Formats: sequence, C-alpha cells, structure tokens
Amino acid sequence: MSLTDHAAPDPVFDDIVHGEEPLVDALRDHTESADPHELDDSLDDHVRYAKLYDIQHWRNSTGRYLDDTTYGYDPETPPLTQEEFRALPSAAYHGVVAAMAGGLAGERIAFECSAALCSYAPDDNSRMFLATQVIDEARHVEVFTQRLKRLGCHDVDATLHKYVNPGMFAFHDKMRARVVDSRDFAGGIIGQNLALEGLALGFFEFNAALVKPVDPGTSRVLETVLLDERRHVGFGLVKLRELVDESPDKRAYVEDTVCELSENMMEIFEENADNMARLGIDPTEAMDRVNRYHAMHLRRLGLSDAGVAQSA
Ligand SMILES: [Fe+2]
Ligand SMILES: [Fe+2]
Repeated sequence: MSLTDHAAPDPVFDDIVHGEEPLVDALRDHTESADPHELDDSLDDHVRYAKLYDIQHWRNSTGRYLDDTTYGYDPETPPLTQEEFRALPSAAYHGVVAAMAGGLAGERIAFECSAALCSYAPDDNSRMFLATQVIDEARHVEVFTQRLKRLGCHDVDATLHKYVNPGMFAFHDKMRARVVDSRDFAGGIIGQNLALEGLALGFFEFNAALVKPVDPGTSRVLETVLLDERRHVGFGLVKLRELVDESPDKRAYVEDTVCELSENMMEIFEENADNMARLGIDPTEAMDRVNRYHAMHLRRLGLSDAGVAQSA
C-alpha cells in the first residue's frame, strides 16, 4: 500500500507501546482489526470510560505516548523532509501537507474551545477532563505545526489557507461564537468532542494507514494524536448522554445541535474527500469510516439517526 497505488489501508497501532489503559486499549482493540463495516458499539461504558477523570492516569498514559519522541515522532524514524519528498510523486507531498494542514486547523479549534469550556464547565469532573484536553490540544497544535515546518511550510497560516477547506474556518468562527461568546457548554461539547473530533477519527485513521509505507514518521504522529482523540470523543459521549438522561427537556436541543454541527463537519469532510480524489487517492474508505463513527456515536447517545444520518 502506498500513496500512489491506492490500495485499501488497514489501520494498525502495533508500533505504539501499550500498557494497561482501559479506554484507549479497548477502543483500539475494538476498531483496529477490521473494516469499517464491522465497527459496533458493544463495549460496556464502565470499560470504555473507566479512567476519564483520573489525572494520574492521564499523566501516565500520555507520558507513555510521548516519551522518547520529538514532536510526536520516533527520532530514529523522523518524518520525511520536503527534499526527501522530491523523489516521490508530487501528489504524495501535497497529500501529506493537506492532511497536516487540515489536522492543524481542527486542532486550533479544539485548543481554543477546550480552554474556554474548561473555564465555565458545570462540574469538577468536566473541568478536570477539559484541563487535560487543553494540554493535549496544545501538544497537537505543536506537533502538526512542527510537521508542516519540516515539510518546508514555514508560513503556517498561508499554508492553512492554501490547503484547508474554507468551511473549516467558518466552523471555527461558528464555534468561537457558540463557546466563547454564548458560553453554550452543551453546544460546545457537541461541536468539539462529537462533530469535530468524532468525525475526524475516520480521517485520522485513514491518513495514518495511508502514509505509513511512504512516511512512517508522519504516520506515528497521526497515531499518537489519534489515541488522545479517542479519549476526547469518549468524554463528549459520556457528558452528552448524562445531559440527555438527566434533563429530558434538553434532548431536543442536543438532537438539533448534533444534527446541525455534524452536517457542517460532514460537508467539510466530503469536500476533503473530493480533494483527495483529485490527488488520485480513493477516499471511499475514509468516508465510510467517518459515516460509521457518526452512526455509532448517535447510537451511543440514544439519538435517532434519521435526520443526521440522511444528511451524511
Ligand atoms: Fe487534538
Ligand atoms: Fe481532541
């Protein structure tokens, strides 16, 4: 499989060292083995989210992901430089830059929004989790920024505006208004932890596998970020489920907001898929994964997927 032969990718995490980590390990075991059509949601919540609010656990586990790395990669297998890409088809270079730029645009949204949400979270558990997410997102912004610079993209803002769908910047503005200006906690969690991060899991997995044969250092960066993102999505699902169960009157608001923001993100991912196709990369599996995650998350929230899934 390579960026140039379009073979179906198969996400693997074998080179990430794992110890006991109920949430991440369970989700990894759950999703790594098979094609997206086999994803399901049979895990018990007590296994899935056992350590969500445990700072000690967060320090131990994220330390393990980042130990001995340089901006998220193994120094013995650094990501390819711009010069090293010159021996490859230009689509390989532009594909990796586009993946990093799109990733960074999303990380910037999550960095800003998680910091704001932490400041007015309604309970200590949420505040505790979001404090860890802010640091995770700061790290993700850093590793993607450094990756772009190693690719020769030193003007990071210009690179983002060249490679990233304008819809992503509009989504950032919309989230800033909702989270910073309106202090809408539930809407912020929906937009950040469910629509943005939940759907991005599919693209992260696809890109990590796609670039692995040609640029294993970049694949490693994506895989380590992905481990954090699964945890962030897990928090979103737990908090939103609590909200819907404890305040049935909020159910319609949650359902409408999930529908609206997921639709925004789905349009962005569909345009990303079109851009991948123009580079000669078959995006079918990436979009399959996005759609499967979307359906799985709706089921876990106990929401109807009629309105949302149709828009996907
Ligand atoms: Fe992130
Ligand atoms: Fe995240």
